[in-house]
Amino acid sequence: MGLHVIDHPLVAHYLTRLRDRDTAPDEFREASDKIITLLLYEATRDLRTRAFRVNTPLEETEGRAVTDSVVAVPILRAGLGLMAPVLELLPEVTVGYIGLERDERTAIASRYYVKLPPDIRGKVAMILDPMLATGGTAIKAVEILKEYGPQSVRLVCVVAAPEGIQALQQAHPNVDIFAAARDRQLNAAKYIMPGLGDYGDRLFGT
Ligand code: URA
Repeated sequence: MGLHVIDHPLVAHYLTRLRDRDTAPDEFREASDKIITLLLYEATRDLRTRAFRVNTPLEETEGRAVTDSVVAVPILRAGLGLMAPVLELLPEVTVGYIGLERDERTAIASRYYVKLPPDIRGKVAMILDPMLATGGTAIKAVEILKEYGPQSVRLVCVVAAPEGIQALQQAHPNVDIFAAARDRQLNAAKYIMPGLGDYGDRLFGT
């Protein structure tokens, strides 16, 4: 359990493409897909498998198949942009959507849209939200998911701020966080520094 910051040259390479303010949306989306694929490699490392016999063209050998079911939960809006590599690597995944908005005065996140698959109980829930800033959104999303009895909940993000990591770990100590970087701090506007700006705006060119 805990924070997993993925230390890998390709992750560092694509993160730098994402950070660069001159990276255009098409290149940003491409780097985003690649970095999420790399993060998924680590975020799925503990999935359980069952052994079975398989025939190669030459002989019978042992094969393995993933037995854990994963439900991916992108947080609207930017989390949607992380879904392509998830569907590519885990074609049998089921997908739920959570939309949260933050009250600017109280900083409390409340749900405006929740659409989850009916059978989350016993599944591995994987929240996708690229920027773990204050942690308010992630904390609320975990709270919502836990109502449905998943086997475990994990968060895949690209950049995490120390403030968000601490808040999420305090609220939900049993949630693993997978990130490409742990950045320095939040600024007064709650942007992550040095960060990469607004992930949704960079992805969608808004
Ligand atoms: N969301 C973003 O997209 N960027 C930040 O820096 C913080 C939250």
